[in-house]
Amino acid sequence: MKAIILAAGEGKRMKSDRHKVVQSILGKPMITYVIEAAREAYCDDITVVVGYQAELVKSAVSGIEGVSFALQEQRLGTGHAVLSAASALREDGLVFVLSGDVPLIEASTLKALVDVHLLENNIATMISTNVNDPTGYGRIVRDAEGRFTKIVEQKDATAKELDICEVNPAVYLFTAETLLPVLKRLKNDNTQGEYYLTDTLALLLQDGHKVGVLNQPNPEQFCGVNDKYQLSVVVDIMKARINKRLMLSGVTIIDPAQAYISPDVLIGQDTVIYPGAIIEPGTVIGSGCEIGPNTRIVNTVIGDNVAVMNSVCIDSEIGSDTKVGPFAYLRPHSKIGSHCKIGDFVEVKNATIGDGSKASHLTYVGDSDVGQNVNFGCGTVTVNYDGSRKYRTVIKDNAFIGCNTNLIAPVTVEENAYTAAGSTITEDVPRDTLGIARARQINKTGWQRKTNA
Ligand code: UD1
Ligand code: CA
Repeated sequence: MKAIILAAGEGKRMKSDRHKVVQSILGKPMITYVIEAAREAYCDDITVVVGYQAELVKSAVSGIEGVSFALQEQRLGTGHAVLSAASALREDGLVFVLSGDVPLIEASTLKALVDVHLLENNIATMISTNVNDPTGYGRIVRDAEGRFTKIVEQKDATAKELDICEVNPAVYLFTAETLLPVLKRLKNDNTQGEYYLTDTLALLLQDGHKVGVLNQPNPEQFCGVNDKYQLSVVVDIMKARINKRLMLSGVTIIDPAQAYISPDVLIGQDTVIYPGAIIEPGTVIGSGCEIGPNTRIVNTVIGDNVAVMNSVCIDSEIGSDTKVGPFAYLRPHSKIGSHCKIGDFVEVKNATIGDGSKASHLTYVGDSDVGQNVNFGCGTVTVNYDGSRKYRTVIKDNAFIGCNTNLIAPVTVEENAYTAAGSTITEDVPRDTLGIARARQINKTGWQRKTNA
């Protein structure tokens, strides 16, 4: 099984500097949804036809297995686009032709298309669907007996054909070797001067081949994305789909309209997702967690029974039974242990924090290796940057960092050591030792402010 996905067109209506198929739907480029649907329908060889912003489109899908690219240098129409991927058509087998801008297409629909194709012994099988407003679509033309005869594009249609509400959502399955010679016979003698893929179906019929049409009742999954409004409509539908799947697997989502979760995110049972949660690709969340409200989590692995409130976590790890937030910021490469607390206005960056350690308020821990059961007093700052280089701070198990301590890296606070509140620690503190680095207080007795009076 192969698939050719068309994505060479410019998509001017998007009014964007970025190709429409790379626009984000819940954290993933639009075209990846089409690729995933094809893969789920057993396609292990997928050719994406690129043209406009080819490099951008390629980089958006690089790393997905089994995907290669064909370059359509000039945009001469959808038939010409498929012909650019001719190498995918040379061997026998079945090939889907799909569009990169129809991201809601479901794998089950593609599988149904294969079933009909094989059952009816077709050379080509396409989907049709009925819509209230057929504007912009190619219309499905049938003869007096109701047999499919051709597809006519809106711009080439007669007044009577324009009234047809059975349309072409551009989801096709072909027997590969038969398609190739027909593509080469396409003419561009139409209003748009393009080589239409849709004309191959009438040509195949004329050649005496069997062409099937599978009418699908639910047009929603064939929504194309041409502009930013349609993008929002599709995001909404995809969001509902993903959230429903998660809820049916035991995740509690307080308000599904306000939870934005990427399709590849894994979430355990009885985790509660509060409104305003944005959970992006690469994230895995255990069971019994509370996520949100108003929390963004990107590529972060979270254990069980973790609470993350009003916080941002990027490229990080959080162990079980840990509390993050409200208003915490885990920047990339933060590895927080279990039973920890990363409280309000605490920022962690490129640091490991061992089990049971707590930074409850107003603290910055950057480029640090923190052991277990360490307590950070309010207002601790690791001073990791001297203006040109970054240095690490090491804090060992059971150390107690007093409030408002500055730790000037590189520096080590050993096991069971303390720093006195308000200290600026520039030298290592040995184990079981209290480091004090602040000016002693002087009280000037009887002192009174001089006044002008
Ligand atoms: C196409 C169909 C129409 C169908 C509609 C559904 C044809 C002739 N018409 O029309 O019947 O109802 O889709 O949305 O196929 N593309 C290329 N290279 C090209 C031209 C297009 O890669 O030279 C790509 C586009 O990037 C897009 C897809 O093919 O992903 C469809 O092209 P578009 O021009 O939007 O076709 P429609 O006019 O919408
Ligand atoms: Ca289109």
